[in-house]
Amino acid sequence: MIPPKQVQEILDATRIEEVIEEFVSLRRRGVNLIGLCPFHGERTPSFNVNPARNIFKCFGCGKAGDAVTFLKEHENLTYPEALRWLARKYHIEIQEVERTPEQLAEMQLADSLYIVNEFALQHFQQQLFDTDEGKSVALAYFRKRGLREETIRAFGLGYAPDERDLLLRKARNTGHSPELLKKVGLCSQDGGRDFFRARVMFAIHNLSGKVAAFAGRTMSAEKTIPKYINSPETEIYVKNKILYGAFQAKKAIRQLDECLLVEGYMDVISLYQAGIENVVASSGTSLTEGQLQLIRRNTQNLKILYDGDPAGIKAALRGLDLALEQDLNVRICLLPDGHDPDSYVQEFGGEQFKKFTTENAKDFIFFKTDLLLDETKGDPIKRAGLVKDIVSSIARIPDPIKRSVYLRECSGLLQVSEQILVAEANKLIGQTLKKREEKAARQPSAASDQPAPSAPPPAWGDDPFFPPDPGAYFPPSEAGELPPEWTEKQVAQPNNEVKTAAEYQERDIVRLLIQFGSHILPQEQISVGEYILADIEESLSDFDNPLYGKVAMECHAMLLEGKTFDQHYFIQHELAEVANLAIDILAEPWEFSPNWEAMWNYPLQNQPMPERNFNLDMKQALDRFKLKKVQKMCAINLQRVQNASKEGDHDAMIRFMKIQQKLNETRNEIALRTGTVVFGK
Ligand code: CTP
Ligand code: MN
Repeated sequence: MIPPKQVQEILDATRIEEVIEEFVSLRRRGVNLIGLCPFHGERTPSFNVNPARNIFKCFGCGKAGDAVTFLKEHENLTYPEALRWLARKYHIEIQEVERTPEQLAEMQLADSLYIVNEFALQHFQQQLFDTDEGKSVALAYFRKRGLREETIRAFGLGYAPDERDLLLRKARNTGHSPELLKKVGLCSQDGGRDFFRARVMFAIHNLSGKVAAFAGRTMSAEKTIPKYINSPETEIYVKNKILYGAFQAKKAIRQLDECLLVEGYMDVISLYQAGIENVVASSGTSLTEGQLQLIRRNTQNLKILYDGDPAGIKAALRGLDLALEQDLNVRICLLPDGHDPDSYVQEFGGEQFKKFTTENAKDFIFFKTDLLLDETKGDPIKRAGLVKDIVSSIARIPDPIKRSVYLRECSGLLQVSEQILVAEANKLIGQTLKKREEKAARQPSAASDQPAPSAPPPAWGDDPFFPPDPGAYFPPSEAGELPPEWTEKQVAQPNNEVKTAAEYQERDIVRLLIQFGSHILPQEQISVGEYILADIEESLSDFDNPLYGKVAMECHAMLLEGKTFDQHYFIQHELAEVANLAIDILAEPWEFSPNWEAMWNYPLQNQPMPERNFNLDMKQALDRFKLKKVQKMCAINLQRVQNASKEGDHDAMIRFMKIQQKLNETRNEIALRTGTVVFGK
């Protein structure tokens, strides 16, 4: 177990944007960072990261949380694994407390497949570097193919000698279960022999660098032996979601904002060694949607290198319509006859490779047009089919501006009027949309990423006590600027009940507790949590919203026990409704609307973010909360006055009227402080 003090240390060191950037390409937008959501397929970024609050939220699919949540969801890590991941990243050495056997078993089970692969990797590497046979056979093979030792190590290359069960025996001797070996496909199903024998080995990493699978290449030129054999699919090796080399390439892909796609393992490795690091391989198969999404999350620009014959290329091009649907800019580069990327870069070097591919890469649509034009020369019927084929590709591009540029250009190339092409494209788009709608109608719940539209938020001005207030942190008119789900969350409970005005004040108190609970107030020298709860102690059982009341009570109880709480505590709360509430609250309002100034005529630079202004923020929220409670008491007491008067109980009436006066005074005092207009006496 990781001791709580160290958990805190790890969380304090964690910057959410640094964690997420390891997996998702982010760019700045205002105070936030945005990118393509890794949890659902999308083409326009709705995945937001808020560094100030250390949280992320996707407006498309609703996934949200902190860095720990992200790692749990994205990397399938458990809570302690996520913490260890962060500790490694931030160079924090964990002094773990002794684990129980059950904990150990659980952890090992979760990680066991990776562990056994890692064990195998080390075995293959040891066979390569530390045995005479490995050196003379396999290392010599890699050297002959132009690889340097650092490259061989960076890609986890190794050697499996021609022995029946070398790996199995070693596994038994070192306490690795043959069952697990079987599970990841490293030995035969009867557990009798190793799967990879007499082959040089290639580790296949997942995006975070763990070994998910292996490929083994024969060194023999014998045609009857399969050149490569690969690990089977397992829980940790889902082929259509892994791109070979992606782990080593992802940083360069983002930096250069381009991904090169090649076919083979050797192509990736040779290019990487030659300084072309932004390269991944489809491993000989056509690209899947999952792989394209993986690319699209890191860059919009894909350059595909082909070395095949025209027939093979034509077949490959069909699969690329999928890439257009992902709004990727696809370019194609054909290598000179007889060369694949590996042989080209080994012969001519990295600089020449860059020059060649830059000069010869052609936009996919134009490439396809040229290729097909060539084929259909002088055959009008085929020519008509070609026009349809090209337009069908263009129609898949989601960006209308890009689409229209292509249609114009292709009208010139195909010698067909632009209007005809546009009409054809629109027809196809219409058909696709209709299909989508029909599909959506058939399965209403699973049909879309977006939640069903909800009732519009109540107009802010509806509450007579809280007219639009330029100093408020919840500019309600901003709602119109926000993605649909955002506004929904802001006004509706999970059961879609619209919040009453009083609940806004309670929610604000809860927000302060969650967001700043452990922050120390400089003047008072106590925490925000302590200040708030001391201030509203009597009202704790008086929350209108049971969930908000529950959070406030729990905070109170924790303080009494001398415990502290912070946003991480709530985001990881054992009760899902509390965790969801925390993330909703922390995410709202995500950012100031760009037209805030115009709307409120209130200069932004004078408006500190709530993060930096929690002292004032807190006092205002407390005042609003109290005002609401006092108003409620006023109403109740007024009823008492009226009842007493009806019953002719004069004494009671006088007593209640005195109370009423006192309540009114308190109310006006608070109202004055908050600048709120109060109606009534
Ligand atoms: N491939 C495979 N099984 C085969 C042949 C190929 O899985 N029997 C996949 C591998 O991922 C391989 C890719 O298809 O990397 C491309 O095949 P090829 O061009 O033949 O392999 P290279 O990587 O170029 O290997 P080498 O240069 O060593 O021949
Ligand atoms: Mn090759």
